[in-house]
Amino acid sequence: MRSCLLVAVMAAALGSAQTYNSLWIPDAIAGSSFDLTLRKTTKQVRPGDPTVTYGYNDADFWGPTLIMTKGDFVQLNVKNELTEDTTTHWHGFHIPAEMDGGPHQTIEAGTVWSPSFEVKNNAGTYWYHPHLHESTAKQLTLGAGGFIIIQDEAEAALALPRSYGVDDIPIVLTSRRFLTNNQFDTNMTISPYGDFMLTNGILNAQVTLPAGQFVRLRLLNAEIERAYNLGFADGRKFYVIANDGGLLNAPVAVTRAKLYVGERLEILVDLTGDKPGAQLDLQAFNGGFSLGFPGGEPQQTGLFGSLLNNKTFNLLHIVVGEAAAGGAVTALREKLAENTYWTDKDVTNRRTIRVVDRGPGTPFTFDGNAYDMDRIDQIVELDAVEAWTIVNNRTFGHSFHIHDVQFKIVARSSGVVADYEQGWKDTVSIPNNESVTIIAKFDDFADDKHPFMYHCHFSNHEDEGMMGQFLVVEKAKSSAASEAKQAHKSAR
Ligand code: C2O
Ligand code: CU
Ligand code: CU
Repeated sequence: MRSCLLVAVMAAALGSAQTYNSLWIPDAIAGSSFDLTLRKTTKQVRPGDPTVTYGYNDADFWGPTLIMTKGDFVQLNVKNELTEDTTTHWHGFHIPAEMDGGPHQTIEAGTVWSPSFEVKNNAGTYWYHPHLHESTAKQLTLGAGGFIIIQDEAEAALALPRSYGVDDIPIVLTSRRFLTNNQFDTNMTISPYGDFMLTNGILNAQVTLPAGQFVRLRLLNAEIERAYNLGFADGRKFYVIANDGGLLNAPVAVTRAKLYVGERLEILVDLTGDKPGAQLDLQAFNGGFSLGFPGGEPQQTGLFGSLLNNKTFNLLHIVVGEAAAGGAVTALREKLAENTYWTDKDVTNRRTIRVVDRGPGTPFTFDGNAYDMDRIDQIVELDAVEAWTIVNNRTFGHSFHIHDVQFKIVARSSGVVADYEQGWKDTVSIPNNESVTIIAKFDDFADDKHPFMYHCHFSNHEDEGMMGQFLVVEKAKSSAASEAKQAHKSAR
């Protein structure tokens, strides 16, 4: 599998010379004990020299999909076979800070890290990735990452496509720039944007999906910085059924949906009217945006340039295949879940976090403070329901992610919160000149030593310091902790 040659398929029906390569589907590992080994390898990404990559287990880019069940107690063993340190973060998981795999849980080269925790999140699409401060962009660019699918009884009871790799497809979207010898460019100083789209690590990816039914795509933006404005070339509607933290209350029909770095959308694609042999394209409609949309920059080369900037490009070519033998999902449900979201009435504390930049050439920060592993930026009381307003008066968009919690987006200063982002979220787009307010409850895991992170999920920004940390502490301890934080601050 690791040496497999690219399978080129001629798109005969289009009558064009466009060639496609078969979409790679990561292996799935189900259960309650998971072994991951991160190693350096190579991948024949395109003709010529193989590309040096990072992958977990047998993957020559990315890693296996971990399938977990809500309520299970899981054990993970992550072996670092690289010659550099790493960490492994379980993005979106509500777990103790010590198990979170943030910058503090270093896995030194040659060692194994073995966290264990109860899976408390709802069924949905989550992911794991390195989070070593100042190395996240590089390790992600080389390919380190993987999906986690959580299953639960509520989701299992619904008629939804869930045959992994057949009608339930994980799709990780990234782009890469190649140096002359086919190596991935990990230097973000010129541009964080790739020139070539990789879908599950494959250039010009194509997948065959069954005719006559709905198909689920689990879409993850694992870019360094680019956002996607998703849609189909034929303008067909698709149905958003889940956000970062699981099912929406009802499907939302759209023709476009934006997906910023770190965010996930589960969508249903309606192939009930498509015959075998039909073809369609999932695309990024990234043309026509102004400068603040990440990837909307007009330039193709040079500073912030990319061949994919500000245009429409293909993410996945879909060929409609034979219908499944039976049991396929042919109708769209009206209801999916009964989430009760936090509202303003529930809020027990509010805070504001400001995006700051001090002009061209200086890194973005929150509140003017570059990330410091030894500084606690926020202290949250256990069980607090907090409204965080992220204020971005600047000219560029960002992707804001909070560890530990799933939150509800309650307000955008630009107007309404899109229907397709009404569900539980752990990552939210913060467009330029916009303020966004989210509400979350910080329950279950108090720890006055180990912090959780909040950060821009553009990993170049994160590596440059656009990250802060918060402690969740028990009530009695919170005043003592904030005194300590004050003392710490004035000592600096
Ligand atoms: Cu997906 Cu703190 O990250
Ligand atoms: Cu995370
Ligand atoms: Cu940012």
